[in-house]
Amino acid sequence: MDSFAATVARMPALRTAIEQHPEDYRVLTGERPTGRLHLGHYFGTIRERVRLQSAGVETFVILADYQVITDRDSAGNVREHVHGAVLDYLAAGLDPASTTIFTHSSVPALNQLLLPFLSLVTEAELHRNPTVKSELAASGRTLSGLLLTYPVHQAADILFCKGNLVPVGKDNLPHVEITRTIARRFNERYGPVFPEPAALVTDAAELPGLDGRKMSKSYGNAIALGMTADETAAAIRRAPTDSERAITYDPANRPGVAGLLTTAAVVLGRTPQEIADELGDAGAGALKRVTTEAVNEFLADHRARRASLTVADAVAVIRDGNARARTIADATLDEVRVAMGMVY
Ligand code: TRP
Repeated sequence: MDSFAATVARMPALRTAIEQHPEDYRVLTGERPTGRLHLGHYFGTIRERVRLQSAGVETFVILADYQVITDRDSAGNVREHVHGAVLDYLAAGLDPASTTIFTHSSVPALNQLLLPFLSLVTEAELHRNPTVKSELAASGRTLSGLLLTYPVHQAADILFCKGNLVPVGKDNLPHVEITRTIARRFNERYGPVFPEPAALVTDAAELPGLDGRKMSKSYGNAIALGMTADETAAAIRRAPTDSERAITYDPANRPGVAGLLTTAAVVLGRTPQEIADELGDAGAGALKRVTTEAVNEFLADHRARRASLTVADAVAVIRDGNARARTIADATLDEVRVAMGMVY
C-alpha cells in the first residue's frame, strides 16, 4: 500500500473518533483566494467543514492570501476573492460565531513562526515536495523563494492555533506531512509545544470541470457558487460536447459529456451511469438542459442566502476572525519564545 492509500485506509477510524470526541479536535483548513469558489470546492471541502462544525469540532478557516503570490506577480483581486469566499462560507452554513475565518496577512505572529520553522527543514526536503514540484511546473516560471517554502508557511497556518486535524485534498498531503515533521522536530529541540496534526482526506470523488478536465478557475470550466442561474446556463451551454446522440459515460473518450454527467450526478446524489441511461439517445442538448436544471436547483438556496448578505457582512466576519486569530497566534508565539529561551 502506498502512503496515500494507507492514509485513506485510516479515515473511517479517524471519522469515528471525531464523532465520538469532537472536543479533542481543532480543525485548521483553508484555501488560496485566487478566484471565485466553485462547485468543486463545495463538494471537496466546504461541505466537510460545515459537517465538522455541526459535529462540534472547533474550526479555523484560513484564506491564505500570501499563498496567492507563490506563483504569480501580483495579488490580483485578492480582496474581492476574500470577501466572495466569506460570503460563500456563510451561505453554505459556516457560523462565524463558532468558526474563525481569517487571512494570513492580518496575523503577524503566525507569519513569524515561519522563521524558527524554516530552521527545522533542509533545502533538500523543500525541493523534494511533490506538490511544490508540480505547482512549479504548472506555473511555467522559475521557482520563487515563497513557492519553495510555502509548505513550511502552511505548517505555521496549522500550528499557530495548535490545529490537530487538517481536512485536505490529496495534493496537500505532503504539506501535512511536513507539518508533522516540523512539530516533532520543534518539540524535540525545544520542548513540547505543538501537536502532530492528522490529515482528514475527503472521501468525495473529485468533481471534474465542464470539459472533463480538472475543475479550475483558470480553465474557465468551473461553475462558481456565486454565479446566477443564467450565468450557469451559459457556462454549461459553452461546454464542449460531441454530436453523438447516444449519451454514454465514457470519461476517456468523451470527457465533455462525462464532465456534464458527473456534475449532474453529484448535485443529484446519483451516478453518472444512471443519468446517461435515462437520457439514452436524447443528445447533448438534453444533457445540458438536465445538468443546468440540476445545478441551478441545487444551488438555489445557497444563492438566495448569498444574495441576502453584503460585502459589509463579509468584512465584519473577517475582521472578527482576524482579531481572534491574532490573540491565539500571539499566545503561541509567546510559548515559542519561552521554549526557545528568547524572552527579554
Ligand atoms: N494550500 C491550500 C490549497 O489551496 C490552502 C491552504 C493554506 C491550507 N494554508 C492551509 C490548507 C492550511 C490546509 C491547511 O489547497
